[in-house]
Amino acid sequence: MTRNYDIATLRKLDVAHHLPAQSSYKLQQEMGGSRIIVRAQGSTLWDGDGNAILDGMAGLWCVDVGYGRPELAEAAKTQMLELPFYNTFFRTATPPPIELATKLAGLLGGELQHIFFNNSGSESSDTIYRLVRYYWRLKGQPERTVFISRENAYHGTTVLAASMGGMPYMKAQFGDVPIDGLEQIMQPYHFGEGFGETAEAFAERAANALEERILAVGPAKVAAFIGEPVQGAGGVIIPPGGYWQRIEAICRKYGILLIADEVICGFGRLGTWFGFQHFGFTPDIVSMAKGLSSGYIPISATAISREIIETLRTDDDDFHHGYTYSGHPVACAVALRNLQLIEEERMVETVATDLAPRFQAMLAEVAKHSLVGEVRSLGLIGAVEFVSEKGTNRRFAVPGAAGLAVRDACISRGLMVRAVRDSIVMCPPYVITPEELERMGTIILAAMDEAVVTLAQGNAPSHLELETTDPGL
Ligand SMILES: Cc1ncc(COP(=O)(O)O)c(C=O)c1O
Repeated sequence: MTRNYDIATLRKLDVAHHLPAQSSYKLQQEMGGSRIIVRAQGSTLWDGDGNAILDGMAGLWCVDVGYGRPELAEAAKTQMLELPFYNTFFRTATPPPIELATKLAGLLGGELQHIFFNNSGSESSDTIYRLVRYYWRLKGQPERTVFISRENAYHGTTVLAASMGGMPYMKAQFGDVPIDGLEQIMQPYHFGEGFGETAEAFAERAANALEERILAVGPAKVAAFIGEPVQGAGGVIIPPGGYWQRIEAICRKYGILLIADEVICGFGRLGTWFGFQHFGFTPDIVSMAKGLSSGYIPISATAISREIIETLRTDDDDFHHGYTYSGHPVACAVALRNLQLIEEERMVETVATDLAPRFQAMLAEVAKHSLVGEVRSLGLIGAVEFVSEKGTNRRFAVPGAAGLAVRDACISRGLMVRAVRDSIVMCPPYVITPEELERMGTIILAAMDEAVVTLAQGNAPSHLELETTDPGL
């Protein structure tokens, strides 16, 4: 059921008053307003003009259980009527955050038994930073202040999270990074940075960059390494086998904390509950958001190892950190119901055994196209990367043009994907059907045919200049 919107008026008001996130306000104005989505069901979105768009991005890497789930609306309604809000400041709690923390502790297993709630992935990054700094002070090693992340990493958009990430254009707008001690090493991007190298040799080289940086900084100064198991917004960078084991070994060797940012990978995206389980490493801290509530309501969670919490428990002081909505009862109730749905409908298993092979088969067909340099996927996340000469990793003269050309042609044919540099990235809901996956492939192939013509004519999309930085967030 959709209300009757006056879309033309809404688009005018959008330009007049609304500032969309991660957008060029010049382009918003030039294009007469944003694309307005009014309704969704399953894996399909409808825009204000009545066009159906297959959502190849699960909203923004988050609507895992698909759109239109009445169970989640019911969970919110029940909780809102019983207790819409109470805070968790100063040793207060409500039932939902306790229940959700218990559920997450069970899914995470091992030492990851303590959960702090926030409202977004970015806030979780801030929580992690403060907590880790506090931990090392309590351990009597206050000089451990340096965080190492990777180029093209995305950990959020607050000042801290953007600074900790590896997207240069996000930092450029505020000039010098205002927080010291945030270092980036190379990303495990085999196609882009290790073309022609064996996967084993590249994995070792990319992981060894961590040890080299630790030694350059001084091992006693390094607090933590943070990484997404698969880098999502950076272009679906899937590390080669052995990479994470080597990263873990280096962290252990120098006694630094290992943090997994599972904001995209968590909750079944890679065919396991968490990305670290797929890659077989054991983090000390895990960041979660997005799929935690399938995007139905803002919530994020930070899981912390027993050893860290035992250290915090040696202090009489409060942890001076927390948000008004940390452990919001409605958000927690919805997230808990969402996790139950994922379990009841065996979605993690479905991703691993059914959807991932179908997704891979679809991409294998796409890979035959002359524009494609590489397709890569793991579970239900993937990318198609474009090159100017098949069989190489050579780019087109104008960086980003091919990505945007294919993305635009996909959207105009009814498939929502995002462009990251010269690739499109995909992350469909777990309820996508075999027919819809096939349709994705057909649309991408047709979109690439169109893009080849556009690129041959030298017609880069007119908005390229304003949009090359689309990070596919
Ligand atoms: C891996 C990762 N971490 C953190 C974030 C930030 O999350 P949020 O946008 O909820 O602040 C994102 C968002 O895309 C993400 O992909």
